[in-house]
Amino acid sequence: MSERFLELIDISKIYPGVTALDRVSFSVSRGEVIGLVGENGAGKSTLMRVLGGVTEPSGGTIRIDGVARASLTVAEAIKAGIAFVHQELNLFDNLDVAGNIFIGREPLHAGPLKLIDRKRLRAQVRPLLERLAVDFEADRLVAELSLAQRQLVEIMKALSLDARLVIMDEPTSSLTLTETDRLLQVIDGLKAQGVSVIFITHRLNEVKRCADRAVVLRDGRVVGALAREAIAPATLIRLMIGRDLKSLYIPPASPPGDRVLDIVEVRTATYPDRAVSLSVRRGEILGLAGLVGSGRTELARAVFGIDPLRGGSIRLEGEPIRIAEPSAAIERGIYLVPEDRKRSGLLLDFSIAENISLPDLASYARGMLVQTAAEVQNARRQRERLNIRTPDVMTAVGTLSGGNQQKVVLAKWLSMRPRLLIFDEPTRGIDVGAKQDIYQLLRRLADAGVAILMISSDMEEVIGVSDRIAVMHEGAISGFLERNQFSEHNVLELAVGHTV
Ligand SMILES: Nc1ncnc2c1ncn2[C@@H]1O[C@H](COP(=O)(O)OP(=O)(O)OP(=O)(O)O)[C@@H](O)[C@H]1O
Ligand SMILES: [Mg+2]
Repeated sequence: MSERFLELIDISKIYPGVTALDRVSFSVSRGEVIGLVGENGAGKSTLMRVLGGVTEPSGGTIRIDGVARASLTVAEAIKAGIAFVHQELNLFDNLDVAGNIFIGREPLHAGPLKLIDRKRLRAQVRPLLERLAVDFEADRLVAELSLAQRQLVEIMKALSLDARLVIMDEPTSSLTLTETDRLLQVIDGLKAQGVSVIFITHRLNEVKRCADRAVVLRDGRVVGALAREAIAPATLIRLMIGRDLKSLYIPPASPPGDRVLDIVEVRTATYPDRAVSLSVRRGEILGLAGLVGSGRTELARAVFGIDPLRGGSIRLEGEPIRIAEPSAAIERGIYLVPEDRKRSGLLLDFSIAENISLPDLASYARGMLVQTAAEVQNARRQRERLNIRTPDVMTAVGTLSGGNQQKVVLAKWLSMRPRLLIFDEPTRGIDVGAKQDIYQLLRRLADAGVAILMISSDMEEVIGVSDRIAVMHEGAISGFLERNQFSEHNVLELAVGHTV
């Protein structure tokens, strides 16, 4: 495995006010799996964008097969066998799997019409489907595939272009446990076939599970590289954030108080013949676990007034309420921090300060004038509180790293005075250190009397942060767990519909 085909030497990238990469040296050997880790904003995505030819470095050398150059174009990167599986997948929903993989390179029928030869196209895709042992057909519409399956399509596309190196930026952050396992197996398979893989993740046990080498970035610098035997989550954390982490669980200051939210026999459109009942108390963090598709997000959307109820009722502090739209929920102090932040959470061209004050413009506005000073002051406070990495709160949110964008969404809702906060996957894409900050913040909010409903697929998080766990299975609650019953085993059993 000594065949080093790719080397980055002293690569820097300087943005106005931010040194994203500071003389980073990094190499890739044939068939090597590299786990790239670091805090939010450490420079991971930037480094990979340099490799993919998307970002031009400010300095340094890229050496591929012994040939040195100062930067790469996307076309050069592809030609060199570097393939990028993007965080936001770049697939066409209305094309099928084969069409997406061979887009622009489809085999054509002989003749002047240049019609696509579907049969040959499918034949070309078959070996790729087999190579990754996927469970869908070449003629499936991409729109019908799950996120995990779409990722596999992107990987097949990379392989069809003879990729030698596949770069995956947080490929597992939105996958279920089983899907993650499957992807890690695919990575093992690529390695066995001599393909190199760089993957970025905030889940450090994944690095331990499949990386030959772990590279740690901190503030744009490489602060450590660990060989397979030396990879351990605790060691990675120490390198990433320069300190050890304490346990996740922070006990509540006092026992939970009165019931804030009662969901009574509520039915949603996805599972109209299943009814859900649960309550969240003042000061309580109720974890809502379950497999993806078990109806957790639908339940949250119904409570927040995005989707209509198909039956049942909701009570807030004992009073029956009807919430026909989110603004009615917000008026009553019910907030939802959505799962899909890019689409429903943030305006990327607007500043951090503007994004944070968006839901609460009324309290900043006097007449027609938005009070920017108050807005900025609050944004600065939230930046300190959540450790949002940016030189300036007037920076456009779109230029922040993925995890820092997420913190802005949290900040936006935390600036309000909530009674009930619903989080849908609150720390997806957030680094371990910042996660702890967020957990502490959740606990402080709960101790201040807020009721918190936290949907999470992160097992460690559900078990570490919740005071009580409700588990959903196919649209219904399959069980509740008290703290002394918390275990991965119990959550999983309930999630697949068994009893414990
Ligand atoms: N286009 C840009 N303009 C200005 N600054 C940028 C731009 N892209 C990235 N940055 C900055 O460069 C730094 C590194 O960002 P990068 O996205 O590489 O972090 P990351 O390690 O991938 O973090 P995360 O774990 O949150 O995804 C951040 O401070 C970010 O704000
Ligand atoms: Mg990133």
